[in-house]
Amino acid sequence: MPPARRRVVVRAPGKINLSLGVGAVDDRGYHALATVFQAVDLYETISATRADGMSLEVHSEVPGEMPLDESNLALRAAELLRTEFDLRDGAALHIHKQVPIAGGMGGGSADAAATLVALDRLWGLGLGSDGLRQLGSRLGADVPFAMLGHTALGRGNGADLTTVLTHGEWTWLLAVPGGHLSTPEVFRRFDEIAASGGRTPATQPTIDERQLQALSGGNVELLADTLHNDLQAAAFALHPGLEPVVEAAEQHGALAALVSGSGPTVAVLVEGEAQARSIAAGLMSEALVESCLVARGSAPGASVLEEE
Ligand code: C5P
Repeated sequence: MPPARRRVVVRAPGKINLSLGVGAVDDRGYHALATVFQAVDLYETISATRADGMSLEVHSEVPGEMPLDESNLALRAAELLRTEFDLRDGAALHIHKQVPIAGGMGGGSADAAATLVALDRLWGLGLGSDGLRQLGSRLGADVPFAMLGHTALGRGNGADLTTVLTHGEWTWLLAVPGGHLSTPEVFRRFDEIAASGGRTPATQPTIDERQLQALSGGNVELLADTLHNDLQAAAFALHPGLEPVVEAAEQHGALAALVSGSGPTVAVLVEGEAQARSIAAGLMSEALVESCLVARGSAPGASVLEEE
């Protein structure tokens, strides 16, 4: 068994979906996905310190409220370990947030991933990356990707991952409109739109091969051409403020813009930071968004920053 620790600090990245193909729903209520995740350098940093019981404190750089009760994904990750291994150990958790809250960027999943990695070390469980990823997938479909990071293809419900080769760095403006969207509701609306159009979603959707070529060749124009989100129409229908953000970003010269995951954050692909700042200024002055962040992809998955 590895030694237990007194304090461990781990960070895990937020993500965007460069493409998100959604297929049929299975008997557990999950949709078949074919997605390309990219981790960006906005991080959730979790410090876990030994304590008698469990506690949680949050310090956030981004606006919005996150739940601090037992529905919080960091606390659920801790509870999963305590139940699974019949532990009485406790921990004081502190989360430093950079990923927009409930924005479709996997901030909660990053919290769960970082907490599992931190508590595995703190409590000396020695789970290893496979064990951690498997437990993570029980907390949410995006949790294993927050552990893996970089750029990866996600199949099944999003948790079956294959790393994708990339060349170079990509700059993103993340435009955060007010309001929030519930992931299950966006998927439900997707089903309704498909049904009303008489479409039967594919059993297993496919990835656009050109997107993989764009990533491996560092071709930003081709990447812009292949950004795609099957959930976008559903997100637009549920959040009237979203479509104007995507349109305005493109009018201001972005290479492309799309809703990230189930939204409402809009991921805007740009040529560099200067362009990101000028588009952000335009969106802010038109009062289309509450805040804007600049990020780069891809970024590493959950990693230990300190332990003592
Ligand atoms: O896995 P996660 O907890 O993030 O998913 C939240 C909800 O989003 C699920 O309960 C489900 O309603 C929906 N979802 C889905 N298909 C997926 C992933 C999520 O329908 N592949």
